[in-house]
Amino acid sequence: MSLPKNFLWGGAVAANQVEGAWNVDGKGLSVADVATYKPTVDVKDYKHQVAVSTDTIQAAIADKTDTDYPKRRGIDGYHRYKEDIALFAEMGFKAFRLSIAWSRLFPNGDETEPNPAGVQFYQNVIAELQKYNIEPIVTLSHYEMPLHLSLTKNGWVDRSVIDDFVRFAKVCFASLPTVKYWLTFNEIDSVTRHPFTSAGIIPDQSKHLEQDEYQALHHQFVASALVTKLAHEMIPGSQVGCMLTKLTDYPATAKPEDVLASFQANTMNYFCADVQAKGIYPPLITKFFEKNNIQVAFGPDDAAILRDNTVDFISFSYYMSLISSASGDVEMTSGNTIVGGKNPYLKTTEWGWSVDPVGLRISLLQLYDRYRKPLFIVENGMGAADTLTADGKIHDPYRIAYFRDHLREMIKAVDDGVDLLGYTSWAPIDLVSASTSQMSKRYGFIYVDADDLGHGTYDRYRKDSFYWYQKVIRSNGADL
Ligand code: BG6
Repeated sequence: MSLPKNFLWGGAVAANQVEGAWNVDGKGLSVADVATYKPTVDVKDYKHQVAVSTDTIQAAIADKTDTDYPKRRGIDGYHRYKEDIALFAEMGFKAFRLSIAWSRLFPNGDETEPNPAGVQFYQNVIAELQKYNIEPIVTLSHYEMPLHLSLTKNGWVDRSVIDDFVRFAKVCFASLPTVKYWLTFNEIDSVTRHPFTSAGIIPDQSKHLEQDEYQALHHQFVASALVTKLAHEMIPGSQVGCMLTKLTDYPATAKPEDVLASFQANTMNYFCADVQAKGIYPPLITKFFEKNNIQVAFGPDDAAILRDNTVDFISFSYYMSLISSASGDVEMTSGNTIVGGKNPYLKTTEWGWSVDPVGLRISLLQLYDRYRKPLFIVENGMGAADTLTADGKIHDPYRIAYFRDHLREMIKAVDDGVDLLGYTSWAPIDLVSASTSQMSKRYGFIYVDADDLGHGTYDRYRKDSFYWYQKVIRSNGADL
């Protein structure tokens, strides 16, 4: 069993979780800059606990400090990116996934001309990656919409945001013409799980929240299709992918009712990738809208835009699997911005996420069988607490075990016949958590000396897993 020679090994981050520098060089506020530190999110009520209101946003705008807003600090990646990229190169990265903070290029999101300092920053980062022959994988939108668009338009609910986004993407393509791989919306399906973070929707500004969520999602589908076309025109040979949160679901038992409940959960999870890969809304979803009184308004050309501009590959995050039962009578646990049934056969991480390496193989097989397009695992990893020893070491066998088990299953799936472009771990370096804004929930092969409150030197240290991943890449997955 071996992986293709050009397999893209690497790691993935998002601008709002690493850059910090929230008010530097003309950057505007993004939805991430008003996300507060939430170390104790109740898993049974995730959506409401991470929700914002117009009042909490205004209070955040008035607060000019980063005390309660860890994403304003990130890991100071804006100033330390050269040091970080050198460490990625030392691990042997072939690829690195990053996102572009929209509000660094367009501080309010609706300007006609970009902020030159923002453009220059990303040109510098890409040049630094290419200096080491690291292929950039660039996400256009990763939970960091300009806050102004959220406040003035209720985010993606307003169709005119499509134009704002296309203008932003055009600047990205024009200023970064050597980037071959682009992703449009990170975990696009998450709009219904955290509408503010994912689509800038402020719940108290929505009369019919569920309908607004699906309308926003539709606008993102159209925007994604339009920028896919644009990328192909502006950067010949470029490849554009959608990005799905793969929430593989199993029936809690072999009872047909549970199998049905699980089928329905998986159908909802596939919905976005179905639209973006096949170019048409699945009939089961259209019926779901009808039954739930959800009316999604289509522009006159939308159906054709979606049909004619499907994605080149399917990328996804995979952290865990879930179970469903018809009676709802299962223990619940937290997961990747979701609360779901806990599988009694699986162990969980300290944060309650079920660890399921075989689920990764299943996910790869299901996705490839369904779409027959190349796949790309652009996020996979575990959050864990680490200890920095007095002599500057971090011993993290639990992380090595997690990755080893997942990579083993990934390689089996490739051997089964799946066309897989690459694997970027989440995250190669500790960063601020998307859901809870914790630093203490550490994902990296590289340790960052900063705590939840922003105390620390921000110095970087190589964990034991750093050397392990280096060896994995060097052997192209043969030596796990
Ligand atoms: C994914 C996101 O949902 O999961 C990342 O795309 C995020 O941005 C990752 O960081 C892990 O989630 P969390 O909440 O532990 O940071």
